[in-house]
Amino acid sequence: MAVERTFSILKPDATARNLTGAVNAMIEQAGLRIIAQKRVRITKEQAETFYGVHRARPFFGELVSFMTSGPVVVQVLEGDNAIAKYRDIMGATDPSKAAAGTIRKVHAKSIGENSVHGSDAADTAAQEIAQFFAGNEIVG
Ligand code: RTP
Ligand code: MG
Repeated sequence: MAVERTFSILKPDATARNLTGAVNAMIEQAGLRIIAQKRVRITKEQAETFYGVHRARPFFGELVSFMTSGPVVVQVLEGDNAIAKYRDIMGATDPSKAAAGTIRKVHAKSIGENSVHGSDAADTAAQEIAQFFAGNEIVG
């Protein structure tokens, strides 16, 4: 299996409930390494760019306002098959449909306030990492 990097966000509902360490423990337990991490407030413009693919969706405004409502923790995760592996341990977008033991099943509040983001493919992972991290901030 190839060693990959993926981009992760611990969303405002997670930081508000002091869950950074609890989510990070689940990430590390799954064998992924946190090779970059910082706590930031993202701007409206950054959130609109980041979730640009959803611009026409009815939940877009709510999503941007949620993602800018409090601090987030942005991360780069590295490991074998990291992109698919992180999506697996995150669980389904809607926590009521997420598998037992996944981050969203355990921690998410709703389909919107669902605790974590993970890249969905190699090209989006590379773009998302580059949006938030300089090369020298990533230490693998
Ligand atoms: P993400 O991009 O954050 O990793 O989540 P995802 O791939 O599982 O889901 P996606 O379809 O890309 O949706 C992005 C985020 O938009 C919010 N959302 N709200 N109210 C709603 O019906 C709804 N649907 C999606 C969630 O925060 C979701 O993670
Ligand atoms: Mg997505």
